[in-house]
Amino acid sequence: MQIVRTLSELRQALRATEKPAFVPTMGNLHEGHLALLRLAKPQGDVAVASIFVNRLQFLPHEDFDSYPRTWEADCAKLEAAGCDVLFAPRETDLYPEPQTFKVHPDPRMADILEGQFRPGFFIGVATVVMKLFQAVFAGHAQGVAAFGKKDYQQLMVIRQLVRQFALPIQILAGETQRTPEGLAMSSRNGYLSEAERVEALQLSLALRGLAQTALSLGPSWPERQQALEQSFMNQLQARGWQPDYLTVRRRADLQVPGAHEPPQSWVVLGAAKLGQTRLIDNFEI
Ligand code: PAF
Repeated sequence: MQIVRTLSELRQALRATEKPAFVPTMGNLHEGHLALLRLAKPQGDVAVASIFVNRLQFLPHEDFDSYPRTWEADCAKLEAAGCDVLFAPRETDLYPEPQTFKVHPDPRMADILEGQFRPGFFIGVATVVMKLFQAVFAGHAQGVAAFGKKDYQQLMVIRQLVRQFALPIQILAGETQRTPEGLAMSSRNGYLSEAERVEALQLSLALRGLAQTALSLGPSWPERQQALEQSFMNQLQARGWQPDYLTVRRRADLQVPGAHEPPQSWVVLGAAKLGQTRLIDNFEI
């Protein structure tokens, strides 16, 4: 695996390739990231991963400084998973001057759910993804990039970005990887104590319960939606969680589904804080 830091080193490394298969990450890699690499790699002629903790997508009170940085372990995992080129820019390589031009996703998609509780988050994500796409795919007529369904809203924002800017990049969606107990894999799981790790399963259980309730109510779901979502949030709160949202949405645009929309087009999403750790999860119904 070749490790490159600068844009010109990356361009040099990808000079003779036709179709990069790319997985952007912020490091602290787990099975979810490696599954994305395995998904993307056969679709291109070179497997590229990036590790870059993107300051632009963190609010001032969030964990940018303490975000786990596990360089040696990440390199070993990527190499073993078949990564050919690792792009690990320093902050000054990706942001040589203050990034005053930013990509602003559609607020109807980006200011709800995660965007409501983390204002500006998707501007930071869309801006860095656009820069990473430029870095990896410039000079290539085609490419493929993989994102996890664990960050469902991020995946939808990136799909819209690629569509509206007509980027010649195919976006692959990787299934959420879970521990045998059902906990969605996330770099932030490392913040959980042993007891919290057990309790953390309750978020996915609450989401499954909400999905089952929505399914069983079918067309009468929308009129009871708010009360039922609130009751599942209350249940988590009673166990000591601080829920931000638990909600049923339409997959394509993450808006509230109408009475006659088929449940097969729904996704249930949730975010809640357990102790100091904010967790997110979702299931396609
Ligand atoms: O999902 C992540 O790890 C990040 O949001 C991403 C896509 C690498 C952008 O920084």
